[in-house]
Amino acid sequence: MPWYKQAYDWVERRVQLEGFVKESAEHPVPSKTASWWYVFGSASFVLLLLQIVTGILLALVYVPSAGSAWSSLQVLNHQLPLGWFLRGMHGWGSNFMVAVVLIHMCQVFLFGAYKFPRELTWILGVFLLLMTLGMAFTGQVLRFDQDAYWGLGIGASIMSRVPFIGRQLVEFMLGGPIIAGATLSRFFTLHVFVIPATMLAFASLHVWLVLKLGINEWPTPGRLVKRETYIQEYNELTHKDGVPFFSGAIWKDAMFSAGIVLAVAVCALLLGPIGPTGVPDPTIVQTVPKPDFFFLWIYSALAFLPPSIETPVMLIAPVIGIIVMLVLPFVAGLGEKSWYRRPVAVLLVVVLAAGFATLTHLGTYVPWSPQMDGWSADPVPVHFVDQTKPLERQGAIVFQQKQCRNCHQMGGLGGRRGPSLDDVATRLTEDQLVRQVTQGGGNMPAYGKTLSPAQVTALVAFLETLHPSNQPVAIDASRHVAETNNPAPKEPVEAIRP
Ligand code: HEC
Repeated sequence: MPWYKQAYDWVERRVQLEGFVKESAEHPVPSKTASWWYVFGSASFVLLLLQIVTGILLALVYVPSAGSAWSSLQVLNHQLPLGWFLRGMHGWGSNFMVAVVLIHMCQVFLFGAYKFPRELTWILGVFLLLMTLGMAFTGQVLRFDQDAYWGLGIGASIMSRVPFIGRQLVEFMLGGPIIAGATLSRFFTLHVFVIPATMLAFASLHVWLVLKLGINEWPTPGRLVKRETYIQEYNELTHKDGVPFFSGAIWKDAMFSAGIVLAVAVCALLLGPIGPTGVPDPTIVQTVPKPDFFFLWIYSALAFLPPSIETPVMLIAPVIGIIVMLVLPFVAGLGEKSWYRRPVAVLLVVVLAAGFATLTHLGTYVPWSPQMDGWSADPVPVHFVDQTKPLERQGAIVFQQKQCRNCHQMGGLGGRRGPSLDDVATRLTEDQLVRQVTQGGGNMPAYGKTLSPAQVTALVAFLETLHPSNQPVAIDASRHVAETNNPAPKEPVEAIRP
């Protein structure tokens, strides 16, 4: 007996896996399921493995610290041979994984594969989808660039809307009140330990169930799933009309997975690694922050929801969505599987797909997400400055240079992240304007460090002119009284700054 056969026998006598592997490989699957429709699950698994391998390699170089994360990605991109390609594979792999997992889910839903007795397989799948999205989000944060910063900011602002415990949730997520080093450590831990470990466990169990329960048969209109008879019928089907998984069905899976990995490699090669975009700094407003494509729809949904229902929709819709997915196999777990006889299911998939696609497309240009270069050259409209004093006019120039209109509309033009400033002077007093500009807050960056006191004075003087001519500017009532009783020279603006 050759030495390797002896070694194999030695191990096999101890682990006794041969029977199991053989049985799994040769288990009969209904011949019609050896179809191109059935390849997305295995492709998701292959992509998961690809992400693990490329992720481990990246972790060898990546430094999970706020000060060095961004530059360690620069090292990967520009200094290490093929580092850029590795980052490309991992980044595009994640995009493909989200897409393939979603397609897999649609296919399973349309083919009724979540029905009895595969309810638990579906439920594990729902959690796997959530974890895939969780990996995508945490991964995006690890880039720790402008996009990550804004992505986190939006995540935090959604969290902060949770009643009662919003602030605690945000602090829990960010590891403190602000996005900082602790935030990165937290997301690193999630991205490389917590979620992947859970995901591997869930994915293994998911595959185990697929092996144990058999792959879903090709749905035939009129053949109903009944709790009493289904398993027997399935076994008869696979005995009469089954092919061994290996090698009857597996080659299509293998070919598709190989094709997907190749597509990831081609994207990495041609389109390169994703980011990092600029260093994260809330006062640098030069980049176009964009989340990866699978979160774009959130941006546009936020842009189009009327503010009054934003919070309830944002907090309740995802919970409802997840609950609906989890209870689906229990309320629709029997009966018809074929999509020919399930028009509502088909319609639902079409409507959801069209909805998400439209929102995603809109997400590429809706103004809610600040367009950080969109208005840089746009001067302040003339009628806002034509009757102003020199100081106020200087303020208009500061306003223009600092590109406040990336986020604020003026005269109907500009971003819509913050409120329109056309009549801001009727809402805020001088002090409040100074505070808003220097300290920011409520999703607006603080400009205290990037503006000189003189610039702040001029800017605020300009903002003070922004009110309709028939409406007075807002004034601080207490100060007004104090001043009329005891006229004193106005405090210089600088004195108010901390
Ligand atoms: C990144 C986007 C962004 C940029 C850039 C930005 N802001 Fe804001 N701004 C906001 C948001 C969001 C709010 C609303 C804050 C809140 O809800 O408390 C806001 C609020 C304000 C307000 C208060 C408006 C009100 O009616 O309450 C003023 C004034 C203001 N910004 C001025 C400026 C000026 C001046 C600049 C340029 C130096 C600027 N902003 C740049 C996002 C931005």
